Amino acid sequence: MNVTIFGSGYVGLVTGACLAEVGNHVLCVDVDQRKIDILNNDGVPIYEPGLEDLIRKNRAAGRLAFTTDPAQGIAHGLFQFIAVGTPPDEDGSADLRHVLGVARTIGEHINGYRIVVDKSTVPVGTADRVAETIREAQAARGTQHEVDVVSNPEFLKEGAAIEDFMRPDRVVVGTDNPRTGELLRALYAPFNRNHDRVMVMDIRSAELTKYAANAMLATKISFMNELSNIAEAVGADIEQVRLGIGSDPRIGYQFIYPGCGYGGSCFPKDVRALERTAQGIDYRPDLLQAVEAVNDRQKDVLFRKIDARFDGALAGRTIALWGLAFKPNTDDMREASSRRLMEQLWAAGARVRAYDPVAAEETRRIYGEREDLTLVDEQMAALDGADALAIVTEWAQFRSPDFDAIKAKLGTPVVFDGRNIYDPAQVAAAGLDYVSIGRRPVPATGR
Ligand code: UDX
Repeated sequence: MNVTIFGSGYVGLVTGACLAEVGNHVLCVDVDQRKIDILNNDGVPIYEPGLEDLIRKNRAAGRLAFTTDPAQGIAHGLFQFIAVGTPPDEDGSADLRHVLGVARTIGEHINGYRIVVDKSTVPVGTADRVAETIREAQAARGTQHEVDVVSNPEFLKEGAAIEDFMRPDRVVVGTDNPRTGELLRALYAPFNRNHDRVMVMDIRSAELTKYAANAMLATKISFMNELSNIAEAVGADIEQVRLGIGSDPRIGYQFIYPGCGYGGSCFPKDVRALERTAQGIDYRPDLLQAVEAVNDRQKDVLFRKIDARFDGALAGRTIALWGLAFKPNTDDMREASSRRLMEQLWAAGARVRAYDPVAAEETRRIYGEREDLTLVDEQMAALDGADALAIVTEWAQFRSPDFDAIKAKLGTPVVFDGRNIYDPAQVAAAGLDYVSIGRRPVPATGR
């Protein structure tokens, strides 16, 4: 089948590459000439494991192409995916400018029946606005080609997006037209495993499903973070509590890891956008607001622990950071906990020496060159001249370091672990004090 994808960002590229991989002919359209040039030269403008190979392979096979020409895109695909960004505007609502811009362009060039698929995360009611925008643009040029607008939210995790797309738990399709539902079923049939994964429902339910899923997951995390603070205060160990509750299948082990807060492009933005939607219908979203507030406070936890340990005298000290990205296997720094920590450390007069396997460049882009930030390209080098080490992102390569070597390098033998990746006894045995989340600090037992 012929598929056009507007937006060559993270979601658009993964969707395009995976749809091409199963045999469709995919044309990706983006207004950014620089991005399209990179893609046409076998490069990939973002970091996502497996994506570069998939794009190169499918381009070579003639199933995947890139252009800045929207008219060509609209002529190409029966399916017109909209996968452009929906950044939050000032009040946290999703900004639909780009989505509606694509809708207008489709209306200006459409020359036959098309299925327009909303892949971007958009508030309930957006499909109606997309349909209306296309209708208006068509009316202005005197055409009336039939269009079906479908909501098809993505559930991709950064770092595992290809796998998530190729082996989905479910594919949610919102449409009011049963025939369109069947066409989407056929498009997604190659991704079914064991049983049909495609769920066809009404448009508004599909739109709300995306927010419901992300808000639920964010709620689980904030719940555990709140409990971790309680556990610490009452002298319990949140990791034991986690295992204790996770064993109940109604609760489950997933997404109950306490830490220094959730970040990324989805959870913070989607929780806020859902709050705005609720407020727009005069419903007070108490729970969602609490989820956001708890997360915001949790992003301060590492700084508070570091500050307390040094009696508020951080000026002139150097803190080593392991991990900058909002989670492992991505260079994405959006709403990353590391940002809050670094900014608080700088405000307190401390210097940061940081290592991240892939996010250094992105960090440099955000903060520029500054005298109180040193980015190093090897994890132990972050400890040179540092007073203490803080772990912010749980990259696999941080999981079993040489604790003796860490002890030898640090001015003050203390490790602050924002992701609870170590066994406290093991860290303590190397002569390091260990401060983690939701567990009592463990003093060095020494060697
Ligand atoms: C998320 C959803 O998982 C995905 O389905 C949706 O499409 C987009 O949003 P993503 O933002 O890529 O994906 O990352 P995810 O792996 O879900 O992690 C989000 C944040 O939560 C990270 O900062 C992570 O560190 C944090 N987290 C996750 C926890 O603090 N504890 C957990 O138990 C799980």
